[in-house]
Amino acid sequence: MVLTADLIKPKEEAAGSGANVSCALTEHVLRWWRKHGRKDLPWQKDVTPYRVWVSEIMLQQTQVGTVIPYFERFMQRFPDVGHLAAASLDDVLRLWTGLGYYARARHLHQAAQKILAEYGGQMPSSVQELCALPGIGRSTAGAILSLAYKQSHAILDGNVKRVLCRYHGIREWPGAAATERHLWALAETHLPASEEAAAYTQAMMDLGSLVCRRTKPLCQNCPLRSACAAYREGRTDEWPMPRPRRSLPEKEIWFIVLRDHAGRVLLEQRDPTGVWGGLWSFPMMESAQTAAAWVDHELGKTENYRPLAEIQHVFSHFLLHIHPLLIELQTPLVTGVKDQPRVWYKPGQPSPGGLAAPVVRLIRDLSNV
Ligand code: ADE
Repeated sequence: MVLTADLIKPKEEAAGSGANVSCALTEHVLRWWRKHGRKDLPWQKDVTPYRVWVSEIMLQQTQVGTVIPYFERFMQRFPDVGHLAAASLDDVLRLWTGLGYYARARHLHQAAQKILAEYGGQMPSSVQELCALPGIGRSTAGAILSLAYKQSHAILDGNVKRVLCRYHGIREWPGAAATERHLWALAETHLPASEEAAAYTQAMMDLGSLVCRRTKPLCQNCPLRSACAAYREGRTDEWPMPRPRRSLPEKEIWFIVLRDHAGRVLLEQRDPTGVWGGLWSFPMMESAQTAAAWVDHELGKTENYRPLAEIQHVFSHFLLHIHPLLIELQTPLVTGVKDQPRVWYKPGQPSPGGLAAPVVRLIRDLSNV
């Protein structure tokens, strides 16, 4: 389709507010997207609210290239809300292993069950109803409504925040509540009419990730260059302003790695909440003393254990130091099922469910120990 000026009617132009900077942004971004934007991503084919929703959740903290194979496998296994709602959480987490931020998968699963129970399996189509589902915030709701339902709704993900901060010369950290309110208001003023809603949403995401990149932005290729405050002032490397500095808290945990005579390791399932909620992990202790007490209690005797190399794992809000302790069991151990479900897992076999990244790494490294 050829783009003509009257096809693109930003809201405030239609309302006659006269804020023509916004109109210019919308028009330029749409024209750029028609030529350079992404149009062949898997979730852009057979567009349904379900497919858009799942893709948006996967894309929340993960790059497009990483998401694509996960999305394809997920759609094969859970082609619609009903299949996802009927699955076990272990099955969902297993398919999510490696994508990280596992709360996303748990929320997706819970939300599918809610959509089935409350909406007969049809995704709702209003901001309020979507935001009432676990894991969906205002920006994700806006993306679903614009991309799948062709409604005119703003989004404000990290990419769009970056474009708007640079373009409008926002000098505050975009995560601050007042700045975020301001950015939402700006995002709303740039919205085109609903015929262009899907193209505009995708265009802003693509511009943010392909051109207005966090580091080394490609300003020479940017359709907004002539009116961009950051470009004009040479401050693309300063804006968006980073979060005011505070050092990352650090935590320590101990993994008890019980390996039996057949090379199997003991895994237990974490409680459903927390960063690794619902995932399978080595028994996890808060200190070397509780680790020793656990071994005495569970094995009925004191065992020698071998400390393995520390693993560091960085979460967005803390740094975790993991101390693995390896115990080689000479005789088979019959573990009772206590608080959590437990399994003896043979590396290389299908996992009982989702595994946290350091657990995957440790299991792999164990083959050399
Ligand atoms: N990031 C978030 N949503 C996206 C989408 N639909 N396409 C590309 N990148 C995205």
